[in-house]
Amino acid sequence: MKVDGRPMRTLWPAPQRDAVFVIDQRVLPHKLRIERLADGDAVHRAIAEMWVRGAPLIGACAAYGLALHLNAGADDAQLERHAAALRGARPTAVNLAWALERMLSVLRPLPAAARRDAAWAAADAIAELDVQANAAIGRHGLPLLQAVAARKPRGQPVNVLTHCNAGWLATVDWGTATAPIYQAQAAGLPLHVWVDETRPRNQGASLTAWELGHAGVPHTVIADNAGGHLMQHGQVDLVIVGCDRVTRRGDVCNKIGTYLKALAAHDNGVPFYAAMPTSTLDLALLDGVAEIPIEARSAREVTHLSGRTADGCVLEIQLTPDGSAAANPAFDVTPARLVSGLITEHGVVAADEAALVALIAQTR
Ligand code: MRU
Repeated sequence: MKVDGRPMRTLWPAPQRDAVFVIDQRVLPHKLRIERLADGDAVHRAIAEMWVRGAPLIGACAAYGLALHLNAGADDAQLERHAAALRGARPTAVNLAWALERMLSVLRPLPAAARRDAAWAAADAIAELDVQANAAIGRHGLPLLQAVAARKPRGQPVNVLTHCNAGWLATVDWGTATAPIYQAQAAGLPLHVWVDETRPRNQGASLTAWELGHAGVPHTVIADNAGGHLMQHGQVDLVIVGCDRVTRRGDVCNKIGTYLKALAAHDNGVPFYAAMPTSTLDLALLDGVAEIPIEARSAREVTHLSGRTADGCVLEIQLTPDGSAAANPAFDVTPARLVSGLITEHGVVAADEAALVALIAQTR
């Protein structure tokens, strides 16, 4: 996507293959800062501390992290140890394990001396695959938006609600949930996006709003609690969210609060779609609520807020009384029965075991 007219991705390798550059998402929307990560430990830290975040992006970033580690030595023990450490950087998004497993399947059979170059090539391929998958998700999601537009009076915008940031900042490029939106914009469809602020880290208010603004997509940031009310009043035509892990039965794990949006959408007859590259599918799990590990993040993300003051300083403030405990489960699971469909790079499929198993059988 473009930032101020300049094409940009969320990460890219240094030409000398001695570092990877990333957008530091902790300081958006107030500052666009590029960080140079010069070793695998720096990549681990950037993922764990959410300089980079979003399921597909942390997968691609971890792949480059492994390549950086292997610059310093690539015997079997080093390979397995570094991959295991990177896999532990965040627990919920399965793309992290997927990307590292893909790296290992390329690298394990090779002699140590051949692994360095092969690792960089494999990481490039994972990043490129993500870009292509997201572009395809956009193409497959576009007809859903066109169908809504066709039912509305001419010129009235299609109102999409999204939660968290499943935009290009969460991927290498394009985004998952936003890819159909960008395709619709390019096709000249009138559009408007309701952006859930997404407490406690506010990925919607700070990241999705920033990227939609730069892309010129009309949008409105809303408090997380507003979505149900808007649906009751016919102001949401469809919901599109991203995913961090989707089980074999089609249960969708995504940013905390997604489940409540799905319940409200179900109650109001609003279609609820989840967009995902197949790297987000975890066929080993069936029951998402029981089986998906949910990351517990710091209570400070709940008790404190950061933002820009009128004189341009970015400050952190405390929201809660001294001494109040806070809990911060970072993801929740939307059962498949509440999901209208999954927008994948191979087409829109039902959120159920038969459809997902068939999809994988046809494509892997
Ligand atoms: O904690 P985050 O910011 O990494 O969570 C991100 C999300 O939940 C996204 O919606 C999800 O990863 C899909 S990204 C295309």
